[in-house]
Amino acid sequence: MQAVFLSELVLKDFRNFREAQVSFAPGLNILVGPNGTGKTNLLEAIGYLSLARSFRYHPDRELRSWGCEEFRIQGTVWRGSQKLQVDILYRPGQKELMINGNRQRLLDLLGLFLTVTFGPDDLYLVKGPPALRRKFLDRELCQIDRAYAQHLWAYHRVLLQRNAILKQVAAGKVPVGDVDPWNVQLITLALPIMERRRSFLERLNTLASYFYAHLAPKQNVRLIYSPSLPLGEDCLSKLTSSLEKEVAAGATLWGPQRDDFVFYLNGRPARHSASQGEQRSLVLVLKLAEVVYFSEVLGIRPCLLLDDVFSELDKKRQELLLKLLSEEGQSFITTTELASLPQEIVNKGKILAFPFR
Ligand SMILES: Nc1ncnc2c1ncn2[C@@H]1O[C@H](COP(=O)(O)OP(=O)(O)OP(=O)(O)O)[C@@H](O)[C@H]1O
Ligand SMILES: [Mg+2]
Repeated sequence: MQAVFLSELVLKDFRNFREAQVSFAPGLNILVGPNGTGKTNLLEAIGYLSLARSFRYHPDRELRSWGCEEFRIQGTVWRGSQKLQVDILYRPGQKELMINGNRQRLLDLLGLFLTVTFGPDDLYLVKGPPALRRKFLDRELCQIDRAYAQHLWAYHRVLLQRNAILKQVAAGKVPVGDVDPWNVQLITLALPIMERRRSFLERLNTLASYFYAHLAPKQNVRLIYSPSLPLGEDCLSKLTSSLEKEVAAGATLWGPQRDDFVFYLNGRPARHSASQGEQRSLVLVLKLAEVVYFSEVLGIRPCLLLDDVFSELDKKRQELLLKLLSEEGQSFITTTELASLPQEIVNKGKILAFPFR
């Protein structure tokens, strides 16, 4: 299996890094240092090379060092023996991508440097609002499927237009019939998005159940897609049947922007009943499932960005994660204390001490 790896990162005016240059090992990298020294920020910069977006979903303007107008992230990425110089420059209202010195569309970045992240905020994937789970689905699927990213982008444009028409209908400026042409367009773009989410979650469900069985053999985990529209032929009638409500709301009430997925633990929705530790386990197996899925679909082991996760996991869960880390491929782990990591990790990893310099 091919691995993807980041050998060097150069930052300019990114978060607390006014200027930084750092080299990484192709295997395990440990970022260690006190609270507030920039470990998570560095992971965020690394993750930015996957999608030209923050994996924390923070807006670009917040990623600039305070008082600065722009930021720049440059990474040297290896895919087997292929070397890619990725250079992303953010300025207000503009993002420039260069790959090996050539200007490229942001879409061309997708899939070049695959990352799977796992951090404290991921617990919200179980208990948090549906919008977070949709962001997760979109981030992951955009990385591995450019067609999905294109559909999503086109869908949101149509959605904005349809919502604008609904508002105009509500204000009595245009007849209700003006919504009709947008329905078919919306559905045509919505269906491939929902179908892709369905197949992704179906496979994740199988893989996550497999991993969970290692942690707790008697427990049963399911990960179920909950689309807001039926995937079959009825979706147009479902959409049109609620036109009155939509006009009143001034917004489209059905479609991928209302989707969700649900974790079930022993037949019950985990968001209501799972303990803190069970939630952590659910997220862990979801992330492990993702790593396997990416490897299956693209034949590439993604780079893992693990933010402060070890101290929260018990021995059994640590072991499962360790197994994955012992496989080929690059990983980054942050911690405040080396002592909170299993010794075999500390022995194997390249240690980067924070703060820099
Ligand atoms: N846009 C920004 N410009 C400058 N500094 C920032 C910016 N955003 C965040 N910071 C600062 O960066 C510092 C480091 O944050 P970060 O979250 O990376 O620390 P950390 O090492 O992960 O800490 P912890 O161990 O507590 O998780 C924080 O003190 C924060 O105030
Ligand atoms: Mg942190």
